[in-house]
Amino acid sequence: TSKITIAIDGFSSTGKSTVAKQLAKELGYIYVDTGAMYRTVALYALQNNFAKQGEVDAEKLIENLDKVNIDFKYNAQLGFSEVYLNGVNVETEIRGMEVSSYVSKVASISAVRQKLVALQQEMGKAKGIVMDGRDIGTVVFPNAELKLFMTASAETRAQRRFDELQAKGNTEVSYKEVFNNVLERDTLDTTRADSPLEMAKDAVEIDNSNLSRKEQFDKILLLVNAKL
Ligand code: C5P
Repeated sequence: TSKITIAIDGFSSTGKSTVAKQLAKELGYIYVDTGAMYRTVALYALQNNFAKQGEVDAEKLIENLDKVNIDFKYNAQLGFSEVYLNGVNVETEIRGMEVSSYVSKVASISAVRQKLVALQQEMGKAKGIVMDGRDIGTVVFPNAELKLFMTASAETRAQRRFDELQAKGNTEVSYKEVFNNVLERDTLDTTRADSPLEMAKDAVEIDNSNLSRKEQFDKILLLVNAKL
């Protein structure tokens, strides 16, 4: 059978990456987490003081964008790839609240999007890829054979993010802060001028508020098998 491109988009914490990883494993495909790439640029901005006091200095960041080298390396022990910023593994650092609070502002900068979209298209050019993000089915791979759009209530999503942070030992953050960050990113992601989050016309919507992981995966596998 021939390889296809699977695009998974949706709001934050809708379980996109869980599904994407499961699918990539099942099919022997490459998984690319594009949120990790935007998070890595946000981390670079923070490290260089281009992001501070709630503001991002877009001009400075754009000037230095050539110095941001992002790549993924497969970690056999974990069974998935981790993201590197200029040769340094930043997988853990990019998941913290600090990066989360700036990432959507960084992602609204067109020059940042152009750079990352080009990289993503390069990574997916041989197909056999599962990519998740906000604009994969609409901008990065408008011709993807299968497009999924994941949704869940804001409360469900905030609770998942909160549990995840707690499990990683990040106990300073309150549920309320996580909930507010989820809402803030929803607003920024859907209202930005350049490629706002929206469902592609030919995407299948999956609301997983009331689906177990297994139910969700079985449902999606049926959709995938119909395309192979
Ligand atoms: O997927 P994740 O929640 O890690 O993404 C972090 C942020 O990166 C999103 O809230 C969004 O602002 C941005 N993003 C984007 N386009 C993508 C992936 C992520 O704008 N394709």
